[in-house]
Amino acid sequence: MKKDIKQVLFEEEQLRNRIRELGNEISKDYEGKDLLLIGILKGSVPFMADLIKEVTIPCSIDFMAVSSYGNSTKTSGVVRILKDLDFEIENKHILIVEDIIDSGITLRYLTEYLKGRKAASIEIAALLSKPERRTEEVNAKYIGFNVPDYFLVGYGLDYSEKYRNLPYIGILKEEVYR
Ligand code: IMP
Ligand code: MG
Repeated sequence: MKKDIKQVLFEEEQLRNRIRELGNEISKDYEGKDLLLIGILKGSVPFMADLIKEVTIPCSIDFMAVSSYGNSTKTSGVVRILKDLDFEIENKHILIVEDIIDSGITLRYLTEYLKGRKAASIEIAALLSKPERRTEEVNAKYIGFNVPDYFLVGYGLDYSEKYRNLPYIGILKEEVYR
């Protein structure tokens, strides 16, 4: 798989160190609160797994699956809920855990969707953000790294469902998806 990677942007250790910092911040900010982390399948799986191990306060986890149509390198703009939450979120402090914020369409839709359910608060933790690509306003409380507008894979990020298992994050060679 490494032959398809143009450049590695974040090695395992960089990811681990940054996620530890995020875990510490979250643990401080949510001390004494009923915290529920909601991972967005499937891209958030490695981030979610590593993040919760760095959270030192009691919390619970759940998952949602959403999809924007198609499997190209661009979001279509249409969001569908494929798997909803297992439990009610009333009075809980929600932290949505996502791999990357690109246009912002997915997270904008999700936060609006969850707002109707009487949570105590709703915030976002995204490992990566591409600020240049934003078309929807999204206020993420925690961001691991801001990244330039390249198509990235690894550590949960896929191209056509592949490369999610890379332990690092890299830029996919254009010839792979052109
Ligand atoms: P948004 O709705 O445009 O913010 O897109 C969010 C979703 O698009 C993410 O959850 C990813 O699944 C996908 N995505 C955006 N940029 C990339 C990328 O560089 N590599 C892989 N997936 C990406
Ligand atoms: Mg995704």
